[in-house]
Amino acid sequence: MNVSKNKYFWYSNFEFGKTLRLIYLGYSASKPKLEKTMSSRLQSALPLKIFTSSQKIWFITLLIAQLSFVVYLSAGYGLTSLSEGLSAWTDFNDTAYVSGDTLGNSMYAVHVLLAIVMMMGGSLQLIPALRNRFRTFHRYNGRVFVLLACTISIAGMYLIISRGTVGNTLLHALTGFSGVMVIVASFFAIKAARSKRFDLHQRWALHLFLAANGVLFFRLFLFAWLMIFGTLGINTENFTGPTVLCISVLSYLIPHVLVQALWYVNKHRQSWSLISISSTLLLISASFAVGLLGLVVGNWYPNVIA
Ligand code: HEM
Repeated sequence: MNVSKNKYFWYSNFEFGKTLRLIYLGYSASKPKLEKTMSSRLQSALPLKIFTSSQKIWFITLLIAQLSFVVYLSAGYGLTSLSEGLSAWTDFNDTAYVSGDTLGNSMYAVHVLLAIVMMMGGSLQLIPALRNRFRTFHRYNGRVFVLLACTISIAGMYLIISRGTVGNTLLHALTGFSGVMVIVASFFAIKAARSKRFDLHQRWALHLFLAANGVLFFRLFLFAWLMIFGTLGINTENFTGPTVLCISVLSYLIPHVLVQALWYVNKHRQSWSLISISSTLLLISASFAVGLLGLVVGNWYPNVIA
């Protein structure tokens, strides 16, 4: 076995390095300095725990939302296409089927049906236990995810240009940004993995994951807003207004700012930054939960049983 490639070797070396540093501090620093170091470590233990738990809560809430989305798409689009054909898809979305537009209809079908497969596969990539124990699976699943996410994004951009959708140009541009981000992040995630820069790979992979889930975030935030504030700030005639704009920014841009923030927090681990990011993640998780309830009760379930 090549020892240098064994992760436990690196881990134990890292731990060994840390121990050495503490011993060094013990001998060279004055006692108050050592005490200060130890107490700041103890102080950051609780924020670190809160940070770890908030990441788990965010991920589990998202996983439940993804599962529900997949069930809705499979039961709605999937089953309807088998029983009644693609033309019945207009029950779910006015722009889903246009008679005579074979290319557009195929693009819509590719867009929605591949989303069902992509949605779940992506989350498996983020689970450390799976990533570390089943590396070959991680590699192949990652390639499939990249392929699906890029194909879905290209089909989505085709649909928005050829068929249009609700909202104004700014909303379309923000959704388009998410599609471009999927392609850019895929490129850099693969490049970093090939050059074995795994820290950079992880960061780009997270950008990719969040960009590919932007459309789900949009739905969750929108329904969370509707549940709490109703149609405040939304022009229901043409689906524009400050609320729609804020929700698009929150779904398509802010996640990428959060990736950078997470990276900073992980690197510096100051208590204030750990608490700030944990509160943000918990607030997002709560919005996801409320939004999911609204989506299932007010949109997905009635759409499927109608
Ligand atoms: C890569 C992640 C994406 C996923 C998983 C995804 C998923 C979906 C799903 C499931 C639908 C059906 C909606 C429903 O019935 O509720 C849909 C519709 C649509 N998507 Fe996407 N999408 C993605 C990206 C994009 C992008 C980047 C664009 C355009 C720039 C786009 C444009 C559209 C359009 C125009 C529709 C038609 C329905 C509408 O008017 O909203 N999608 N998408």
